[in-house]
Amino acid sequence: MGETLVQTDRSLIGLLRAALSLGDYHQIMNDLYEEIFGEHQMVHFPLYGSSADTLLEGQTNLTDACLDFFPDLTDKRVLEVGCGNGVQSMYVLTNRGPGHVTGMDLNPNNIELADRIAATKGLSNISFLASDAQDMQGIPDAAFDAVLNVESAFHYPDKPSFLNEVNRVLKPGGRFVMADILMKPNRRSSLLRMWERRLSQNYWFADSYRTAFARAGLRIDAERDITDPVLQGFRSRASWFQNHKIRGRVRRAHIMLFVRAQVFRHVYYLRRICSYHIFSAVKPKK
Ligand SMILES: C[S@@+](CC[C@H](N)C(=O)[O-])C[C@H]1O[C@@H](n2cnc3c(N)ncnc32)[C@H](O)[C@@H]1O
Repeated sequence: MGETLVQTDRSLIGLLRAALSLGDYHQIMNDLYEEIFGEHQMVHFPLYGSSADTLLEGQTNLTDACLDFFPDLTDKRVLEVGCGNGVQSMYVLTNRGPGHVTGMDLNPNNIELADRIAATKGLSNISFLASDAQDMQGIPDAAFDAVLNVESAFHYPDKPSFLNEVNRVLKPGGRFVMADILMKPNRRSSLLRMWERRLSQNYWFADSYRTAFARAGLRIDAERDITDPVLQGFRSRASWFQNHKIRGRVRRAHIMLFVRAQVFRHVYYLRRICSYHIFSAVKPKK
């Protein structure tokens, strides 16, 4: 896993620029996790399990918390919308015994990376495609028993179209589980709003989601607010990098500065501006 497909600017300037643009940001996070841990990781927040959790364990806790809403995925067809580098889709494949997993992401670089990681791991029954959550071209109607969406929907400007598409691709009786960062009904400065637009962060209120799920024909039967355990998950951050593979003191200092700034931002948002919810919904059989 040495080389990267797309060359990102790995300098301090590159890290600073990454914080200001969505495409670069996810690319940089993919590259950084590989540089720090020696392998690619999921790209979402950690959920507290124990104080000894590594970052990957915290992230896996969040994935499991979502997957536990699905009854049994054995031999089922699963779609992950907004799959990033595909590591979470691969986790679903190897831990829940589905028949097939499809990972889909807007960013073709992520799909290329996911294909490469799956090939390196020798995985079959998994495929990836580039498509838009709001217009899932290439995904047939009623093709999936389960649709998973983790920490991606807050980027989509058109959430009703996304939910209509989820309803279209689910089989009747199929289940949709979404973990998303939501907006609390608080006011915030126009400077923060400008920065959010730059990062393609289109947070929604929980009530807007509840209405839009119903309009799309998806019946919510469970909802969990995981803001506190996610905030707690960030507390073990000091131990995340103990066994890191970063070469050079200057490089390490730059990366730690970047990581601290990201963690500060996420914790600030989760305390003051946002909450983190899991929604679980079914497409009724009629
Ligand atoms: C924070 S990452 C989460 C990746 C993965 N779900 C995980 O949990 O590891 C968010 C992902 O959403 C993707 N994304 C953003 N807008 C999208 C859209 N309109 N359609 C599909 N994917 C999108 C981004 O490219 C990025 O890979």
